[in-house]
Amino acid sequence: MMDNDGVDQFWYDSQVKFERKPKRVKVFDTTLRDGEQTPGVALTLDEKFSIAEALNELGVDIIEGGFPVSSDGEREVIMRMAGAGFSAKVCGLARCVEKDLDAALAADVDLVHIFIGTSPIHRKYKLKMSEDDVLANAVRSIRYVKERGVSVHFSPEDACRTELPFLKKVVKAAEEAGADHINIPDTVGVMTPQAMYWLISELKKEVKIPLAVHCHNDFGMAVANTISGVMAGAEIPHVTVNGLGERAGNADLEQVVLGLKLIHKVESNVNTKRIFEVSQIVQRLTGIRVMPNFPVVGSNAFAHESGVHVHGVLAKASTYEAIDPEMVGAKRRILVGKLVGAAGVAAKLKELGVAVSDEQAHAITRKVKDLGDKGKKVTEEDLIAIAEDLVGSGSGEGRLVELRDLSLSARLGKAPLSSVVLMVHGQEKKATEDGVGPVDATLKAIRKALGDPDIQLDEYHLDAISGGSNALADVTIRVSKNGRSTMARAVHEDIVMASVLAFINGVNRILRK
Ligand code: KIV
Ligand code: ZN
Repeated sequence: MMDNDGVDQFWYDSQVKFERKPKRVKVFDTTLRDGEQTPGVALTLDEKFSIAEALNELGVDIIEGGFPVSSDGEREVIMRMAGAGFSAKVCGLARCVEKDLDAALAADVDLVHIFIGTSPIHRKYKLKMSEDDVLANAVRSIRYVKERGVSVHFSPEDACRTELPFLKKVVKAAEEAGADHINIPDTVGVMTPQAMYWLISELKKEVKIPLAVHCHNDFGMAVANTISGVMAGAEIPHVTVNGLGERAGNADLEQVVLGLKLIHKVESNVNTKRIFEVSQIVQRLTGIRVMPNFPVVGSNAFAHESGVHVHGVLAKASTYEAIDPEMVGAKRRILVGKLVGAAGVAAKLKELGVAVSDEQAHAITRKVKDLGDKGKKVTEEDLIAIAEDLVGSGSGEGRLVELRDLSLSARLGKAPLSSVVLMVHGQEKKATEDGVGPVDATLKAIRKALGDPDIQLDEYHLDAISGGSNALADVTIRVSKNGRSTMARAVHEDIVMASVLAFINGVNRILRK
């Protein structure tokens, strides 16, 4: 894809020739089957149905709704999906045993996903079957379903640890028995992109029906292996939303769809603009949150913090983004941290609805960096508070009251004492007061120095922003005078200073009103 400066960011990939790459794939989503096998995930039937609706809206071609024989509820919800008028086909999983096949057929699915272990490990330890038994069971089951007028998606389970001659024999027999597609599962994720490319190329020589690939992520290669399988000619990638699935999960839908589309120009029916939303639905319903740095849908996938990157992205987003966030329904985020620059701070505040001058942006940036050096992470709330604090308490014109000095003494066995020096309407005023604590003593001293008994402190609220012992103190107060009142807020590392600045901000506001 060329951008408007004529740059093809995938130029190197375009130098590799793929002879059997399909133009389009059919996306087989197994979030509700393999994804539900994720440790800790248990969806209610209604939640399963909501996810199926979201997947259908997303545009996947096949929804594997579950394992119908596993419970009555599972069979019923799959039947509900099958009868919902989805444009996606609904599929149910079945072993090569009659009760599984019957349960899938009873759920009225569009296709039955029949599987049987073919690798020596599965034959010997799990099934206790010879090669011939495995073959015969597969053929009999495929015929059983086909004779009942339903399509078959067949998987030689653990295909990627199965001897190639036997695997070839199985896939040929499955095609002859009437299977509509054959899936090649990398059940324990042992493949590499090169190995998957080679294996699919070999199997394409044996059968004419479409091949699928189902990759697990044990070595973190599920997405790459799936994409390689497609580039070798497999037309049906198996995926799950957020990469959910047994153990380390399955190939992630978002990454596979986008990688195929953007890097390899292989289309699918997925409406990419809904990707972020569907990922959020699945995160909420399964309770499994993706890591912030998860590609495409992680909260940092389109976040920029360092001054260099923010500057680049503000000039042209593609300097540091290979994917346009809008394409997946996500939003770019400019974050502030110790590496931020004033342009990033101003852009972020603008996004948050706070306008600042260049000078103010630089002052806020200094404060953010200062906090960063102290190990403090600055959140959006922190930034707004810092901006309000600096903008509201700067020595700009119109400040009627300013703090010139403050000294506090804690006294053993006695109330703390606070002395303040204020400039009030250009005149220096001093006062000293004690109180139940340092904040109380200081606010009392300020009121005394103001010399205006009508100014009242009506409310005082203290929050620690972002938690932790090095949190910022965020003080919000309400000040009133003669029936008029105003809110004011300030943020500081020190509670007393946050309280004083908030109070003085409020006093300035009420006096100006
Ligand atoms: O990983 C696997 O082999 C499976 C099969 C049921 C296809 O999920
Ligand atoms: Zn699997």
